[in-house]
Order: sequence, then C-alpha cells, then structure tokens
Amino acid sequence: FNTIDDMNLDGKVVLTRVDLNVPVDNDQVTDATRIEKIVPTVKDIQAQGGIPVLLAHFDRPKGQRVESMSLKQIVPALEAALGQEVKFGEDCIGGPAKRLVASLNAGDVALLENTRFHEGEESNDSTFTASMAALGSAYVNDAFSAAHRAHASTEGLARLLPAGAGRLMEAELKALDAALGNPQRPVMAVVGGAKVSTKLDLLMNLLDRVEHLVIGGGMANTFLVAKGIEVGKSLAERDMADTARAILAKAEKGGCVIHLPRDIVVAREFKAGADSQVLPVDQCPEDAMILDAGPETVEALREAMTRCRTLIWNGPMGAFEIEPFDRATNAAAQAAAELTREDKLVSVAGGGDTVAALNKAGVAGDFSFISTAGGAFLEWMEGKDLPGVAALEAAVL
Ligand code: 3PG
Repeated sequence: FNTIDDMNLDGKVVLTRVDLNVPVDNDQVTDATRIEKIVPTVKDIQAQGGIPVLLAHFDRPKGQRVESMSLKQIVPALEAALGQEVKFGEDCIGGPAKRLVASLNAGDVALLENTRFHEGEESNDSTFTASMAALGSAYVNDAFSAAHRAHASTEGLARLLPAGAGRLMEAELKALDAALGNPQRPVMAVVGGAKVSTKLDLLMNLLDRVEHLVIGGGMANTFLVAKGIEVGKSLAERDMADTARAILAKAEKGGCVIHLPRDIVVAREFKAGADSQVLPVDQCPEDAMILDAGPETVEALREAMTRCRTLIWNGPMGAFEIEPFDRATNAAAQAAAELTREDKLVSVAGGGDTVAALNKAGVAGDFSFISTAGGAFLEWMEGKDLPGVAALEAAVL
C-alpha cells in the first residue's frame, strides 16, 4: 500500500480518516492515546503542503444525529494534542462541510462531524461516499482500529480518491506483521478473556501460527472442564467442552504447546480483598471460583517465554480489575516487559482490556508495540482480512 511519502499532497485537501472513538466522562476525554497517536500523520500531511480534514466516527449513533455523540466534544483534546486550533464542521457532507473546507488555508486542520450521523456511512452507500469524496482530492486512512469496518469513510473513500496509509496505520501493520505475519520464532500467544465461544476463531487461527499458546482468564476454566477437572462455581462454558477438547487435540497434532493453569487462585466472593487461596489446579472447592492463575503457572509461563522470540497478547490472565486477582497478569506482563527491555523478545499487545491491564501493571511502555485497536486487533489475529486495509492495498495514486 501507499503511504503519505508516496503521495503528492501539495495544495490538496486531504480527507484523513482517524479514530477519535475515545472514552469520555462528563465531557472530558479520559484517555487521549488515540488522539495523540494521530499527531504525526496530521503534521506530515501539513509538512507536504496538504490540508488535513479529519473524518471520524464517535460511538454508535446508528445513522441519527445524536448530540451527545457529537465530535465537537473532542475538539479541545485534539487541539491540545496538535498544539493548534481545529476548525470544526457541523456535518461531514453538504453545505456546512463545503463551506468549512472552502475557508481553509495551508497550515490549517479541520474536523468534520461524526460520519455515523449518516446511515450511508455504515451501509457504505455510494452517493454518501461520493459527497464526502467531493470535499477533497486525496484520502489518507490512519484508523487501523476501525479498519475491520467496511464503511464509507474507512473503505469506500479509498476507491474514489488517491489513497494511502497514515503513520499510525503503517506502524500498526508493521507491528502486527512482526508479531504474527512474519515473526521471529518461536512465537507465544497469550489469549485471555471470559469465553471460549467468542474467541474460537482466534484460537483456531493461532494454533496454526504459534508454537506456544497460553490460555488464561475465564476461558481457561472451560479447558479445565474439558480435561475432566472440577472448577466449582467458576465461570465456564460447559457446552464448549467438546470444542475445547478438539482444540487440545489439534494443538497436540500440530506441535503447538498449550499452556493451561497449573495452580489456581480461588475465592468465594468476587470483590476486592476477598479471602483467596492458591491451590493445585484440580483442587477447586465446590463452593469457590477460580479468579486467577497461581504463581507456579506464572513461573512456567515465564520460563517458556524466555525461549520465545515473539509474544502477541490479547486478554488478561485473570480477573485483573480486582485485587488480588491481578497478580498473574501483572507478573506475566512484567516478565514480557523485562525480556523486551533486554532485546530478547518482540512484544505486541492489543485490545481494550489488555491495554488497561498492562497500564495497570505499569509496563505498557516497555512493550515493543501496543495497538490502539480493540475489535480490529482481534479480527486481524483471527486471520480475517480487514476491509479498510484491503482497500488501501488495492488503492491507486
Ligand atoms: C473501536 O473503538 O474499537 C473502533 O473505533 C471501532 O468502533 P466500533 O466497534 O463502534 O465500530
């Protein structure tokens, strides 16, 4: 695919798709990571003489104009990140958008209103896409985290305008390639989360692509059940036991080592500071639930990690939001951070919960790359084609 470097942007209005779907509380952006990550793209477009006009969605207004989902509330945080005024257009097509774009000069940057206020965004409607395309003469997509959506602003525009990838899109794709596309081996994948049923495609794809697969979180309980181990009151999908057994069999045949808990942290209540015990994996009391992996599991994981060159991580190892059930996640994260600092491991992590867990462990900054994506990261790990990326690959200048 093309990047900003390949494009002639001088004097052009550059429709720039970014992801500004950030957490907001009481009109305040509570995590500006996604906003900060688009700054290099905006600056580089400006350095090449282009005028960036930012397109983005916010939340899921389903084709309606919902004032609480206006992108106007993001403008102050965007101005702070860019260090300049951001001109705001009350709509992303039609009169308001045209007038705003016509008023822009070199060095300016503008943001247009939530693309999802129009039904045509999600249906990728050709008339809607053409109305947006008419506002500019080049398209840059910097929203990897929305690239799993085949929407007008993430996919359609790449077919109507000379198109290329922004800096964040480039960095995300490069990191994912280093983690799973074309990695240094052996590769370890850590997959956590509550349910096997929502991560089935992911597990199946990883079995063929990694040498070590660590299963953590609630989904590990389902694998324990599949192995005939009693898990008491733990969260487990008993109807997925056959599927879990099929995954274990496939892994064994293909030479992928699956790491399951060897010891467990159990409690009778799920609340901060609840009485908890570390027990061997097959000793969960009938009235208790497994909320984390134990220290022996973490030690085995650390040992296996030292023999790997690449780590890809999606999903916490335990109920990390509540102490003391964050210990396995923290310890595994620290082990990965240390090996990365020593240049022994390439470590890539993604997904909302995962990034929150790594931030909580205080090691996110030590990872080789932390993706800004949630759903898109997962779909990419599942081996699916992302429409936003595919459209860039097919785009012409
Ligand atoms: C995200 O927040 O993961 C992206 O912005 C995509 O949002 P969506 O799941 O509403 O499409």
